[in-house]
Amino acid sequence: MNAQLPTTEISGPPNLYPGFVHFALRALVPGTEAPCEIRLETIPPHQRDPRLVVALPRHAEIAPAWRQRLLQSGVTHLFAPLEELDLLLAYLSQQSQLVLAGPAAGADPTLGSLLAYEHALCCLKAALLDPRNGRRLGLGAATVRKLVGMIWDNDTTRQAMLKVLSRDQELASHGLNTCLLAVGFVRRLGWSRLTAERLGLAMFYHDLGLVDLDHPGPDDAIWDGIREGKSIEDHPRLGRDLLLRVEGLDPGVPELVYSHHENLDGSGYPRGLSGEAIDREARVARIVDIYETGTSGAGGRQYMNPYALLLVMRNEIGLWLDRPLLEQFVRFLGHI
Ligand SMILES: [Fe+2]
Ligand SMILES: [Fe+2]
Repeated sequence: MNAQLPTTEISGPPNLYPGFVHFALRALVPGTEAPCEIRLETIPPHQRDPRLVVALPRHAEIAPAWRQRLLQSGVTHLFAPLEELDLLLAYLSQQSQLVLAGPAAGADPTLGSLLAYEHALCCLKAALLDPRNGRRLGLGAATVRKLVGMIWDNDTTRQAMLKVLSRDQELASHGLNTCLLAVGFVRRLGWSRLTAERLGLAMFYHDLGLVDLDHPGPDDAIWDGIREGKSIEDHPRLGRDLLLRVEGLDPGVPELVYSHHENLDGSGYPRGLSGEAIDREARVARIVDIYETGTSGAGGRQYMNPYALLLVMRNEIGLWLDRPLLEQFVRFLGHI
């Protein structure tokens, strides 16, 4: 087996600053008002540690020159206080709709998709920060349904949406990227929209259990277990159990999360299922997860170029994966 392959996953810290969530500067539309207090990471003179300072108070205008200056100084991400996250989410959702629905000549599918991506990313970050909050997790279903709508009905927004994937190696981006790839692939396969919503939501949350492993409570011993690769095999079950608390969720979603590391030859975990015991949606989940982990470098893995990774997936771990589905996945990637 190839040692470079993403056979295990280690998640990074879910939040750099407790009490804040970071988001892309590019998601702030010039000429609009700051939806919440917006902070910037800086290292004050004579200090060693970076800290957050207020960059814009709530309702201040987002001036084009201010945004441009930050971009030119290399700022990519800003921070919003966690208690104001709902204001930021409402802003991102509203701006993405406005931009996408603008007058035909003025509509900007790239910016609209980027805003929708950032909105979904912030939803997922909020869930990852508090994975035991069932109400918060429940919001993911509406978010994924909106993404499925953008990918399902409209060729322009589908292409734009599948191109805005962020490659920042974070757990939230990994969840969202796998969600979008799975939804696009399901559409390409000609499967139903309901299947896309179920599998999309499962991918959105598939590594939720990794966060729970990060926050085991006062007993830090589990950290050592993760570092040694002992407890990582618990994350599909933990993720399933967290999702089972969410009211009104399609029961197929937690089941898929439970199955996302099963290999066709029985070498996966946690149950070591094989062959027909792994349904077609879980087979897609496995392919998309390996592909995204390898091509984004998620979890600190070494980045592989897509072509090299697909060759490894076909030749070196071919027995893990559904061969016809993998061939179709390769064709799907060629059309993105
Ligand atoms: Fe996983
Ligand atoms: Fe994953």
